[in-house]
Amino acid sequence: MKVAVLGAAGGIGQALALLLKLQLPAGAELSLYDIAPVTPGVAADVSHIPTAVKVEGFAGEDPTPALKDANIVLISAGVARKPGMDRSDLFNINAGIVRNLIEKVASTCPKACIGIITNPVNTTVAIAAEVLKKAGVYDKRKLFGVTTLDVLRSETFVSELKNLAVSRTIVPVVGGHSGVTILPLLSQVPYVQWNNEEIAPLTKRIQNAGTEVVEAKAGGGSATLSMAQAAARFALSLVKGLQGETVVECTYVEGCGKYARFFAQPVRLGKEGVDEILPIGELSDFEQKALEDMLPTLRADIELGEKFVNQ
Ligand code: NAD
Ligand code: LMR
Repeated sequence: MKVAVLGAAGGIGQALALLLKLQLPAGAELSLYDIAPVTPGVAADVSHIPTAVKVEGFAGEDPTPALKDANIVLISAGVARKPGMDRSDLFNINAGIVRNLIEKVASTCPKACIGIITNPVNTTVAIAAEVLKKAGVYDKRKLFGVTTLDVLRSETFVSELKNLAVSRTIVPVVGGHSGVTILPLLSQVPYVQWNNEEIAPLTKRIQNAGTEVVEAKAGGGSATLSMAQAAARFALSLVKGLQGETVVECTYVEGCGKYARFFAQPVRLGKEGVDEILPIGELSDFEQKALEDMLPTLRADIELGEKFVNQ
């Protein structure tokens, strides 16, 4: 099992490398790539941690050596938000970065599962899909937008508010990964009774949690440590799925297109990536309205990515 991290010298990338070095199964390989020259040093640094995971580091313009034989590619390369910016403001820089990296994935490890972390995720996943399609290697079972941070935040905030054990708090989050497209299905949290005044503010807090971190970091970037944990959780679930275990994670994938071409929802992971996209279940009236309201935004975000590659 070889996992490549592209953007590995960044805030997310370094913490993710650490978590994967500690938690990947024995015998796995971790391949770290970033344009930043420090990357082989980051690899040397984590490689001294005594676990049975081999680490290599690559820097420079070409990610090809890092991608050779990769089973999973996680992409966090790109720029992060500063206060006052929306995720969509990152499109101008990050769209080209994701396109170029995915071209290399397509030519080097076309069968790898790809997890896109780079924002705006609603759009960068569509870019990746179109690039893979152009290269003739698109398999929608293997492309994921990593929306696990929305799940982590929901689990944390709900368990704090309702005094629950966080390890047993399950909150599905559907839609996309920005503002109103993030929809936690609070009505589906097991064993929780809500009163009407709680739902709207908690939903908003989850939707704005990224901005909460961006503002608190005051120009120093966006969420890195919690995102690294989210990406590690997602990657380890993907590894389990590839190795034949049954695991379910909410993630942004191409499904039947009922709501939008790409949509985050619970997905059973398996030996080929997506095993089955699970239904989102029954929604409350509040959730149903929020779902309908988000769709124009989500569809426009996706179209932007498709056009970026095809025009
Ligand atoms: P960062 O600036 O700390 O790190 C980004 C890294 O990408 C840098 O090391 C940089 O050298 C590298 N990079 C830039 N261009 C590259 C290229 N062409 N090839 C390889 N590496 C390249 O940023 P960060 O805090 O790690 O965030 C990275 C991205 O993740 C941002 O777009 C951010 O918005 C996004 N993000 C997503 C989520 C999510 O939930 N999906 C959460 C947090 C952050
Ligand atoms: C997050 O949700 O923390 C990330 O998408 C980063 C951001 O810009 O908010």
